[in-house]
Amino acid sequence: MVSKKLGKARSILAVLALGGAMVVSGNVAAECKFVSTKGDGTQPLIIKPTDKDTPEAKQFLETCVNPYTKRFANDPEAAKAGKKKFGYYSCTQCHGGNAGGQTGPSITDDRWQYAKHVTDKGMFETIAGGSDAGMPTWHQQPSENPELLSTDDILQIMGWLRSMYKGGGDKPWLDEKPVQ
Ligand code: HEC
Repeated sequence: MVSKKLGKARSILAVLALGGAMVVSGNVAAECKFVSTKGDGTQPLIIKPTDKDTPEAKQFLETCVNPYTKRFANDPEAAKAGKKKFGYYSCTQCHGGNAGGQTGPSITDDRWQYAKHVTDKGMFETIAGGSDAGMPTWHQQPSENPELLSTDDILQIMGWLRSMYKGGGDKPWLDEKPVQ
């Protein structure tokens, strides 16, 4: 009897240990650490993975690399999915139908509102968390509003925006390396 009970306790311990190991390895996985464009640019912007995330969203949250950027650069048909969302969420109202600028700045020229916008991480931070100078907060997490954009919505829009770039020079967003 006694040994049976011990056996059970041991297996419970083993399960607990396994769970602990999983938590530890979860922490070790790479993670893209976002910084808010608001304020002095040092505040963290917390965007967490969710059960509904697409593989592309998961990859971006782990590596800071947007898989849609390269895919849409080579496939204008696929990029239309991003353009559609840009219209659906009324980005067009301030940035114009082709993102060439209106009351908001052009997103397709080489003049960036913040230098970090040459990286997909930097551009994501401004779209997801907004800015102090007129760009609203669009990600559903900081606003706690499920009607707003998911990580994947923003990434598809960004993939299309990059494919519309008309500024010349280097395109560093096509050559981004994953964070380790
Ligand atoms: C109410 C007007 C408004 C709407 C709607 C809006 N934006 Fe903006 N956006 C701005 C303004 C103003 C800025 C400049 C912000 C700054 O300089 O701090 C900006 C900046 C940006 C930038 C950086 C541009 C650059 O040249 O560096 C991107 C990218 C962007 N917006 C994407 C979007 C997307 C995507 C949407 C829709 C989900 C959107 N915006 C909707 C007003 C708007």
